[in-house]
Amino acid sequence: MSSNPIVVGVGGGKGGVGKSMVAANLAIALAQAGRQTVLVDADLGSPNLHSLLGIEKVKLTVESLLNHEIDQLDLARMPTQVANLSLVAGSAAAPGSANIPHTQKQKLMRHIAGLDAQVVVVDVGAGTSFNTLDLFNVADVRVVVTTPQLTALQNAYGFAKSAVYRELRSLAQNKEQAELMEDPRLSMETAKLQQLVAHVRARQPFFAAALREALDARQLYVIGNCVLEEKDANVFHAFVRMVRDFLSVECEVLGQLRSSRRAHDSVNRRRPLMIDEKDTDFALVFRRICDRILTLDAKAIRLARRRAEERAAQAPLEPAAPAPLPADLDAYSRTAARRETGLMASLDGKSVIVQDVTESGALITSDEKLTVGARHTLTLSDGRTHPIEIRAAREGNVYSSMFVEPARKAAGQ
Ligand SMILES: Nc1ncnc2c1ncn2[C@@H]1O[C@H](COP(=O)(O)OP(=O)(O)OP(=O)(O)O)[C@@H](O)[C@H]1O
Ligand SMILES: [Mg+2]
Repeated sequence: MSSNPIVVGVGGGKGGVGKSMVAANLAIALAQAGRQTVLVDADLGSPNLHSLLGIEKVKLTVESLLNHEIDQLDLARMPTQVANLSLVAGSAAAPGSANIPHTQKQKLMRHIAGLDAQVVVVDVGAGTSFNTLDLFNVADVRVVVTTPQLTALQNAYGFAKSAVYRELRSLAQNKEQAELMEDPRLSMETAKLQQLVAHVRARQPFFAAALREALDARQLYVIGNCVLEEKDANVFHAFVRMVRDFLSVECEVLGQLRSSRRAHDSVNRRRPLMIDEKDTDFALVFRRICDRILTLDAKAIRLARRRAEERAAQAPLEPAAPAPLPADLDAYSRTAARRETGLMASLDGKSVIVQDVTESGALITSDEKLTVGARHTLTLSDGRTHPIEIRAAREGNVYSSMFVEPARKAAGQ
């Protein structure tokens, strides 16, 4: 279990939008591109990938791992009619297995990420249950499938939002952090995730920086399905912009598929279109998506996620920062329209790295020890200088991190 495959999760909230059809054809495209691929049916409620692929008899399934029949998910792999592609089927014989206990779920997630393959495509099924979200979030590449219909888009957005929030919440190390993220005002429809991070930052700037890092480490991808007219595609791009704006995660349309009789019939024929089609629009969309996925650096994605987790794990060791002052930091916000992490700068002439710049302050890392309350001059790479005050500090092995705010002007100035 050491090959570290790229894991692609396919979800979308709404039932029947084509998640399984997309997962199956995408897995075939990846296998056709020469990658050892495993398709996993993690739709624990109503698995059907074996049927989509024309497989009659299923012996071992995802459930065989959970009930200790096998001790490695790899043992449940079945060959398919496509070279390089094997299937781990879901268990239709276990209705209600959608609610697996936490430890079982952890085990399944570990085994999915540890499958001996180059790429793993996971169909997580419909809905936004914790199991579905966690299985989706285990993926390096998270793909949301939706149709252009309003209800599908609403479900897809709800699904994306739940997945992002759930991942951030999983970073909480203690009750205080968990509670900071539970503020009901912040999960209202109109609330943006930035507001949640700002709310957390006011009390726990280091934890907030970990949340930011987690958001930066991860993207969401969208595949639009059942498009009737060319202009339907615009709605997927609008969806992507909304996700970026409200959820603060990068989002990208991977491709869109037309609604077609052939795609529809392929389900009844139990033969995914990618098996037979090479140059149709349908096949070209999947080949493009496959090429795009193969350009992604799964190792870098995992590394960035781990860094965010480590940062979060260190956060509770910090002294809680005082609530930030209502400060005039427009200079910072101008330099960081979105968020610029890892900016080189200098503090009283010594090099530092500026991370997580916001309206209320910035997190900076320096290899010098610095003291809370001390005032310094921060010079950004564009030459602009900012008087700052250190509000909270943490010492690591080789560097210290501190949360800084603009120094208050002396009275009368
Ligand atoms: N591009 C398409 N054109 C025509 N029909 C399609 C297309 N995509 C999917 N369908 C039809 O939609 C139905 C549902 O597809 P699929 O089973 O892949 O959805 P799903 O999201 O996995 O559903 P569930 O939530 O039940 O798992 C299928 O029967 C298929 O025929
Ligand atoms: Mg399905």
